[in-house]
Formats: sequence, structure tokens, C-alpha cells
Amino acid sequence: MLNIVMIASECVPFAKTGGLADVVGALPPALSVLGHRVVVIIPKYGFVDSSLHPMRPLPNPLGVRMGNMQEWCAVHEASLPGKVPVYLIEHDLYFGRPGLYHDAALNDYVDNPRRFSLLARAGLQLCQDLPFRPDVVHVHDWQTALATAYLKVWHWDSPILGPAGSLLTIHNIGYQGKYPSSHYEYIGLGWPNFEPDILEDYGQINFLKGGIHYADLVNTVSPTYANETRTPGGGMGLAPYLNNKGDRYIGILNGVDYTHWDPSADPLIPAAYSATDLAGKSVCKRALQDRMGLQVEPQVPLVGVISRFAHQKGLDVLAQVVDGVLQQMVVQFAVLGSGDPALETFFGALPGRYPGRAASVIGYDNELAHWIEAGADFFLMPSRYEPCGLNQLYSLRYGTLPIVRATGGLADTVEQYDQSTAAGTGFKFWDLTAQALHDTIGWAVSTYFDRPHHLLQLVRRAMSRDFSWEQSALGYQAAYLRAMEIKRGR
Ligand code: ADP
Ligand code: GLC
Repeated sequence: MLNIVMIASECVPFAKTGGLADVVGALPPALSVLGHRVVVIIPKYGFVDSSLHPMRPLPNPLGVRMGNMQEWCAVHEASLPGKVPVYLIEHDLYFGRPGLYHDAALNDYVDNPRRFSLLARAGLQLCQDLPFRPDVVHVHDWQTALATAYLKVWHWDSPILGPAGSLLTIHNIGYQGKYPSSHYEYIGLGWPNFEPDILEDYGQINFLKGGIHYADLVNTVSPTYANETRTPGGGMGLAPYLNNKGDRYIGILNGVDYTHWDPSADPLIPAAYSATDLAGKSVCKRALQDRMGLQVEPQVPLVGVISRFAHQKGLDVLAQVVDGVLQQMVVQFAVLGSGDPALETFFGALPGRYPGRAASVIGYDNELAHWIEAGADFFLMPSRYEPCGLNQLYSLRYGTLPIVRATGGLADTVEQYDQSTAAGTGFKFWDLTAQALHDTIGWAVSTYFDRPHHLLQLVRRAMSRDFSWEQSALGYQAAYLRAMEIKRGR
């Protein structure tokens, strides 16, 4: 049995902008099933509603060293399934805001380096106060990466924290936490650490880079993305440092929380269904078409998209081809997402041009996400890069065949359809070009009409694939043991 402390900036159901939150909400309960003791530490953002999530305040405030002063935080204890304690760090000045990382106009909060440096320090300080003697400190992305540095630079002689190994999980190397060096002083790690192979990056501070240097072990969320990030293009400037880690940089595929994402027991969707009884899927399709203002046509293939509108997701390429697709093919689109204002405008206006055939909701809507997963026939992810991707995994379980660019976790989890044998679980393309995307959507649509017997086999096979957290949790268990060995110099 290991003691694991997980420090993160997001965790379902408390705060979420993307898949990171799904992972931090699901991995700890899966680890506790394996017999480990896990505690999770996250910020208490201004929007976290304590009436929705039962929590109790800890009696003592938490004093966190910030430069030459102490910042005082309140700590609230809530829990995840499996009685995993979640400690929410409350500090109004830093976290009492409506957004996690930016304001409503998408401008990053200028004090982000200070906010997340505080989170990393608070997480470690809380272990000492509780006391919780971690075997491993597990941190996620740039937001908490610095905890690995504080562990080694500040806490090396602490009886509680000194012996702990550390694991940094990179969910997305596109976000590194780069800030002007004027913020460096209060990061508190000293100028000897402001070096190109540690925290310095062309004159700026780079949080993720510091984490890569200091973590005993680093992982990302799929084996293919681990390989891609070792190359100059994929590593976004950090490939040399990841390559320096050698076998101390690995890929572990994410899992799916099937308690939330399974059509046979999903309270959010209109009708339940399973691989052996697909009748409910048609009910879900009809309900989705009706809800989103699409023509209720059971025999027209429906393509779903749920995404952050970010460059990473390749939806600008979809924007180039979707008019042609809608004009040439018998197909419907249901799009849910938000982000890049230009794409919000584009997809927001699409239904106006193709009434009844294209629908969009610009925003964030978890229930609608479940409806689209259940009601669509295909699920489109034309990602430029995709560390793991969760939506294609949900789609597989919902029998909604993924159409994906074969990158990162999409390459690892979707099996290419083979027209001669009916093998596979989805439709993959390699080059992110308008032509390849157009043709692959066309391939899926023609399969729907011309080879329905193949499609049914693909649907049943996709639904039977198992990406449950049990498997991934075993991968993390092995990673923790390895991080501890590395820490002990073995
Ligand atoms: P990323 O973390 O890069 O955004 P993932 O595929 O790992 O990509 O995870 C995305 C998660 O966020 C999924 O749980 C997905 O359902 C959810 N999601 C993304 N955009 C929306 C939206 N507009 N409304 C509801 N859920 C969304
Ligand atoms: C990131 C990635 C996504 C991954 C998620 C959870 O947001 O973009 O591919 O699934 O983290 O690891």
C-alpha cells in the first residue's frame, strides 16, 4: 500500500476545463480500489459551490511561505468516491475568481505564476500539517509542476517530505506556464535554478520545464504522444529535456470513468442501450436531433463534435471543409464547443446556412455532451495533436464511431476500419489536410449507406473495448514504484 498525494488545478466534480479534471477525478478512486491511500489537493475557486459538494473546514489555517511572508489559507475537506479525501485550498485573493486560468475575455490572469506557485507550496505544506507522509507526490501539468522542485530544493531534509518520490504527468505540452523573469524572485527557488536546463527558457521562467528537470519520473498520457513529444515539432521546445530523461519519461494511457460514461447506465441520456440491445441508441438519436433543431431523420448519418475550440483540436480544418461536406453528402452535424472567437462565430452561424442539417451550441454543457455521445453515429476529432483524448474513448463505449486524425492517444486507441474484413473501431487519417478530412468523413458516410452490416460490427466491437481506469491505475502504480526507486538512487 502506497501513500500518494496528488496536487492538481482541476478535479471533477469541483472544477473542470478539460480532460485533466476527468483524470484527477477518476484516477484516485481507481488507486484506492487497488488498496492505496490517496489524498487530492486542489484550489477552492470562487465558483466551487459548497452546497453542491459537501465539505467541512479543517480547524487550523494553513500557513504557506511566499517570499519573506506567510500566506494564510483555509482548507476544506470534501471527498471523491471511494472515500478519497479532497482538500480544497481557499485563498480569496488568489483563487476566489470566476475562472481557473483567465477572465471572461480569455486573458490569462497576470498573477498565474504566483497563484500556482502558491498551490504547489500549499499542497506540500498541507502534507506536513496533516501529517500525511507521502511515498509519492504526483503532480499534473505546469500548474503544479513546481512542487517537484520545492520537494527537492526546500524539503529534502523534511522527515515527512524528504523521502517522497515525485511523478509529473504532462497532459498537454502546449501549455508550459511561461512567464517573465520578473516573477522569478518570489518563486523562491534561487537564481542557481534559473538555468537553461532547469527553469530558464529564453529569458523566461518555464514551470513545466522545471518540473521535467526535478521530477523523479515524468509521464504523458499515451505511448504515441510520449514518442511525438520527443521530436522537435511535438515537444514544443522541450524535446531535448524529455530525451534527457531517457527511460524516466514514459506514456501511460488514460482510462475512462465508466460510472459516468456508459450508455447502459447513464442517467443523463434519454434511453439506455448496450451492444446487445441498440434500440435505445435510435431513441437517443431522435431526441438529439429534436433537441438541437435537426431534421428527425433516423437514416441520415449524424456526426458529433464536442471540443474546446483550440488550435490543437484542428477544427479550423473542419471549418474549411464542412460546407463542401454538407453540400455533397447526405449527413448532419451536431457541434458543441467554445473557445477561439473566430470558430465560435463560424460554427455558431453554420445552422443558419444549413437549417435542419447542421446544429451547434456554443458553450459548455455536460448533459448535451452525453446526448451527443449517445445520439450521434460518428464522432469527429481532427486533432493537430492529442495527448490522449477522452472523447474518442467515450465515443467507443457509446458505439459512436470515431473519425480521428491518427495522432497521440487517438492513434493508440482507435483501430482502423478495414473494408475487406470489417475489422476496426473507427476511421483514421494521417495528414491534417482539408482533403484528407473531407475524404475520411466521406468514407465514414459511404460506409453508413453502403456497408451497414460492417458498421454494425464496428459499433459492437467499439462498445466492447475496455479502457477502464483499472488498467491505467496499474500503470500508475508501477510508475510510483519506479519513481520511489529513482528517488532512492536505484
Ligand atoms: P481536452 O482535455 O484536450 O479538452 P479531452 O478529450 O481529454 O480533451 O477531454 C475533453 C473533456 O471535456 C471531455 O470530458 C469532454 O466531454 C469535455 N468537453 C469539452 N468541451 C466541452 C463542452 N463544450 N461541453 C461539455 N463538455 C465538454
Ligand atoms: C489534455 C489533452 C487531452 C487529454 C487530457 C487528459 O487536456 O489535451 O488529450 O486526454 O489532457 O489527460
